[in-house]
Amino acid sequence: MDNTFKQDMKERFGRLRTPFYYYDTDLLKETLDAIKRETDRHEGYRLHYAIKACANPKVLRLIQQAGFGADCVSGGEIQACLDSGFPAGEIVFAGVGKADWEIELALKAGIQYFNVESIPELEVIADIATRMGKVADVSFRINPDVGAHTHANITTGLAENKFGIAMEDMERVIRLAQSLSGVRFVGLHFHIGSQILEMDDFEALCQRINELQDRLEAEGITEVKNINVGGGLGIDYEHPDLHPVPDFHAYFETYARHLNLRPGQHLHFELGRAVVGQCGSLITRCLYVKQAKAKQFVIVDAGMTDLIRPALYGAHHCIQNLSSTASAETYDVVGPICESSDIFQADYKLPSTRRGDLLAIRSAGAYGEIMASRYNCRELPESYTKEDLEK
Ligand code: LLP
Repeated sequence: MDNTFKQDMKERFGRLRTPFYYYDTDLLKETLDAIKRETDRHEGYRLHYAIKACANPKVLRLIQQAGFGADCVSGGEIQACLDSGFPAGEIVFAGVGKADWEIELALKAGIQYFNVESIPELEVIADIATRMGKVADVSFRINPDVGAHTHANITTGLAENKFGIAMEDMERVIRLAQSLSGVRFVGLHFHIGSQILEMDDFEALCQRINELQDRLEAEGITEVKNINVGGGLGIDYEHPDLHPVPDFHAYFETYARHLNLRPGQHLHFELGRAVVGQCGSLITRCLYVKQAKAKQFVIVDAGMTDLIRPALYGAHHCIQNLSSTASAETYDVVGPICESSDIFQADYKLPSTRRGDLLAIRSAGAYGEIMASRYNCRELPESYTKEDLEK
């Protein structure tokens, strides 16, 4: 791993209480610029940042300032977006279990559209909108039954998942929406999973959408204003410094080449991880180096409460010792939480590590801070941006 991050950071982090999240806002801006550059090349492409990946207010603000919309899955997320200045008309709202108050909040704010995941939900939205004297724009989330090459817990587009409505039910559901006065049908929504690095998976999604659009047109359904393909583009967890910015060119080109958009149709994306993943690191301190019978442990002050991905998904995050350049030794890097799954890396090579050394757990910008918990009555981690530390 390159040393730029290391040199730069050690000095800045020195006096701060650990653990904390650090967001490299220069990298975030570079990433946002790259997305803008690529989406601007195509007519009607629009990014709604998936706020579930990271709702840190300073991060949100930069994404909002870059002119992106937002993809929300709860009333709390909608409120966080509004608080950060996202225009309500650029917010889309998905989720299999929208509560009445969340639907009301969304309608009151005037969001762009709901991504509806079932018929009972459609009927409730229609009722609530009618009661409020409004018409809700709705898109249907379709389960395309496309398996993505990723972790089983984060594949969402398969028939057995709880998400979306089956392809074959689409005509019926659209007809139902057209017959209800509180809703207006505006589009189709898809999402096949997360941390996807093979463009073939997105290409397969495009083929499914093409088939469906042809079928709907043959049935006389032509009011599909927006196609929303969800998120899912992955990041390089193995080599964060080699690939700090994901290959957005390849990603957007895949859609440009394989998806048959109709004239005037808009294409919406809901990327989360690819936007914020590489700009965040969890900074932690080594508390103890413990020599056990079979293993050598580096016990750090961050735990699964601060970053749950390794414990929950067996996810890999590179770890760097920012304080040591000594020759490498093999450690299990573990946290202080009372769970055996509280382990960041097993049999991992790090420069010889001592009590007090600062470590960076990399690629933690997405699904890191936002998934933190207070288990063991721990404090939630603090967060700093590059600007905060330059003050
Ligand atoms: N749109 C929908 C409908 C989604 O369900 C998701 C993610 C996204 C967009 C954003 O996907 P992304 O571009 O970030 O892949 N906690 C897991 C990831 C869960 C993803 C859930 N849905 C993790 O840490 O890997």
